[in-house]
Amino acid sequence: MHQVGQQANRHNPWPLYARLRQQRVVPLAEGSYAIGRYDDVLALLHDPRVSSDPHTLTDPADRIVMDTPPFINRDPPDHDRLRRVATRFFGPPARPELVTGQEPEIRRQIDALISAFPESGEIDVVDHFAYPLPVAVICRLLGVPPADEPQFRVWAGQVVGALDAANLEDSDNAVKRRNEGLLALFSYLGELVRKHRDSPDGSMLSGLANDDEPDAMSDLELQVTAGLLLIAGHETTVNLIANGTLTLLRNPDALARLRREPGWVVPVTEELLRLEPPVQYLPNRAALADITIDGTTIPQGSELTLLIAAANRDSGRFTEPERFDPDRPDNQHLGFGSGLHYCFGAPLARLEVQLALAALASRLANPRLVEDPPPYRPSPVLRGPLHLRVAYDARRDR
Ligand code: HEM
Repeated sequence: MHQVGQQANRHNPWPLYARLRQQRVVPLAEGSYAIGRYDDVLALLHDPRVSSDPHTLTDPADRIVMDTPPFINRDPPDHDRLRRVATRFFGPPARPELVTGQEPEIRRQIDALISAFPESGEIDVVDHFAYPLPVAVICRLLGVPPADEPQFRVWAGQVVGALDAANLEDSDNAVKRRNEGLLALFSYLGELVRKHRDSPDGSMLSGLANDDEPDAMSDLELQVTAGLLLIAGHETTVNLIANGTLTLLRNPDALARLRREPGWVVPVTEELLRLEPPVQYLPNRAALADITIDGTTIPQGSELTLLIAAANRDSGRFTEPERFDPDRPDNQHLGFGSGLHYCFGAPLARLEVQLALAALASRLANPRLVEDPPPYRPSPVLRGPLHLRVAYDARRDR
């Protein structure tokens, strides 16, 4: 197991990332390398010699779980076709207003969640806000019944818990549980897709299930894509809202300014994606050819771990990288990745997080952290608080 996976580092992985950045290519284990400098991570994200398909690794070990992987784990041309078909039911050019059109409903959800907080006292921002909001949003968009959340919460946890399985302390068990979770999730989604075919509504799954274009997804591709969208659609956003709340409460001047200037939430969200990215690193990239960086050759078939969180704090790219400074110019963070796998849901995630943080800032009087650092979720890849207890004097009406 390499250090990146250690739970003990979770509340403060930054000294480790700084150490890893000292070398441009860091050997982790036999056939496995980490890259942490901004320019190198960016270049590799755009390099056709780097594959997202774990089948191309010399030693795929526990990484392969599916014959039909989701498009996040595929290369062109399959990746491009599946992403294009999914986009047909999500964004421009076919659905240019789908995401922006969610705003009234997202505002309504946020209002309902905050109005259910006690009038004063304490809440857990994760359980009562950061988690239920993205779940409600993605369920509605995809056409997944929100009442099924207790079931898919378990499966999603099993899948996310094994994202960097090879480097976890209890790797075998994590992989076993992940495979069980995936099977259960796909069987559930297969049934749901059949329902959408029989009685379509305006949701994404209905659109995909009834797509009659020549490049439409097969049933299996559709199940897998639905699983990807469901999990990617909430397991990351929860962490940006929670990491964002934590960072704002640690920076009271920024919180006060956000309360005065709600529009400032746009650069605040970008700066959070740089400073506290929910996706810390991208494991399981594979070298399709020998790749030489700074005199070190990464042999074909090796595994690459691209350290987004380290790259985002590289002083070669960002001035005073450890500082939370939403006004920094040219904030080209890698929080949503880059290149052909750039986050599919970025416009939706931005909208949700901007509305969520602006609302929290304005509606809680004198909010403060009860526990700092908070306990963290176990995944080293998707990093964020497990719970975030916040005390406040009063809940304000809108
Ligand atoms: C703050 C929230 C989010 C963050 C930080 C985030 C981050 C990322 C990152 C870093 C990648 C690149 C992965 C790679 O290169 O292998 C990615 C890809 C992806 N994201 Fe997000 N994401 C967020 C929200 C969402 C949402 C809301 C959705 C769904 C609506 C979504 C769907 C996807 C999908 C499908 C991909 C794969 C894209 C591809 O392979 O072409 N994400 N995301």
